[in-house]
Amino acid sequence: MAKGLGASDQMLGRVVRVTDAAAPAGPSRRQLIAGGGVLAAAAVALGAGPARPQDIGIADHTRHLGTSVDEYPYGVPSPHEAQVIRRSVPWLTATRESSINFTPLHELEGIVTPSGVCFERHHAGAPDIGPAEHRLMIHGLVERPLVLTMAELRRFPPVTRFYFLECAANSGMEWRGAQLNGVQFTHGMIHCVQYAGVPLRTLLEECGVKPAGKWLLAEGADAAAMTRSLPIEKALDDCLVAYTMNGERLRREQGYPLRLVVPGWEGNVWVKWLRRLEIGDQPWYQREETSKYTDLMPDGRARQFSWLMEPKSVIVNPSPQAPLTARGANVLRGFAWTGNGLVKRVDVSLDGGINWTPARLEGPLLPKCLTQFYHDFVWNGEPMLLQSRVIDETGYVQPTYQQLIDIRGVNSVYHNHAIQTWLVNEAGGAENVRVS
Ligand code: MTE
Repeated sequence: MAKGLGASDQMLGRVVRVTDAAAPAGPSRRQLIAGGGVLAAAAVALGAGPARPQDIGIADHTRHLGTSVDEYPYGVPSPHEAQVIRRSVPWLTATRESSINFTPLHELEGIVTPSGVCFERHHAGAPDIGPAEHRLMIHGLVERPLVLTMAELRRFPPVTRFYFLECAANSGMEWRGAQLNGVQFTHGMIHCVQYAGVPLRTLLEECGVKPAGKWLLAEGADAAAMTRSLPIEKALDDCLVAYTMNGERLRREQGYPLRLVVPGWEGNVWVKWLRRLEIGDQPWYQREETSKYTDLMPDGRARQFSWLMEPKSVIVNPSPQAPLTARGANVLRGFAWTGNGLVKRVDVSLDGGINWTPARLEGPLLPKCLTQFYHDFVWNGEPMLLQSRVIDETGYVQPTYQQLIDIRGVNSVYHNHAIQTWLVNEAGGAENVRVS
């Protein structure tokens, strides 16, 4: 469903051509240094001349002492960054406890999401659990059932890892057409942080999984007692039982004091406030919410066990919440990720997918992690249709909406990883649109 587009017909053509070395080119060195540089362009946009050294006075904050070292025992963001917050959509869910808020992707840079703006998704609110009273029980088809305190858990050898977590419903509102005007709302059910914790494999080896043990049930200690089944192969592969996030103990809303980390898989299996792991010989269809996490296909059948988060990318800047403010040299910013492992390449298009240019991937490049990409470009004030597409290490190319809908239809709210389009108008404002 395309909204009214102001761009030219040619831009809306569906001829996709990968032009690795070709235009549209970034700003030349001369443009940046000489009269057409970034600062000059900004000044032109504001209708003023470039600032001169003699115009800079002595600011008030240079004349007086600043705050003392005792003022903020736990630091807070600069008051000038007050707009960098999680936001929610009030009409999305019936209650506020079983709801979701969104990460402000357009304000972030680099692969680490600050803990205070990591999106939250709870089925029954976030409980406050004291670490002294918390226990992790591991039982079922094991030789030696265990009940561990937090202190005991911390005596197992830890590892630290960066991973993205994406909710299966991220971009879920967008299947049938452009809906929400902001990357925070279309793509903000994702965060990427550094965890520390114990490999789940270590704990399972300590308990001794019996040969018949093929599935693991993880249960949370919240009012939802959220439970999800995982195949034992994944549990023994790269899952963690994490107690640390971005260098400090988990935030309450991210599962304090303990959460399951399931790299590359949909967020709902990352059970928070983790209190129980049961080993069984089959998944727990009756007790858990498995039935809610299936993808209804066009023929009426449903995809089950669709845990993998497929390759996806999005331009966060410019975007509806982050308009362009100046003509001339600009930098396009975005994020890419894939549950398969590493991001291999990201292409960007300024003309709705007619021409593609490889973006610059900024390290660190880590598996199952956000990857920051940049693209330097010159904006001449004409409308643009911005798109990005990721190609991962398995060769999977992020699909267009048409390609994805042809296969999966529009019945599911989950696993929408199609290419996003932003229409940038002559004033620099951006709008969420769909091109065929
Ligand atoms: N674990 C428990 N115990 N209860 C929950 O409601 N929500 C799940 C998962 N783990 C949930 C849970 C869902 S649906 C998602 S998408 C992720 O947690 C969200 O993790 P976050 O709140 O850290 O972003």
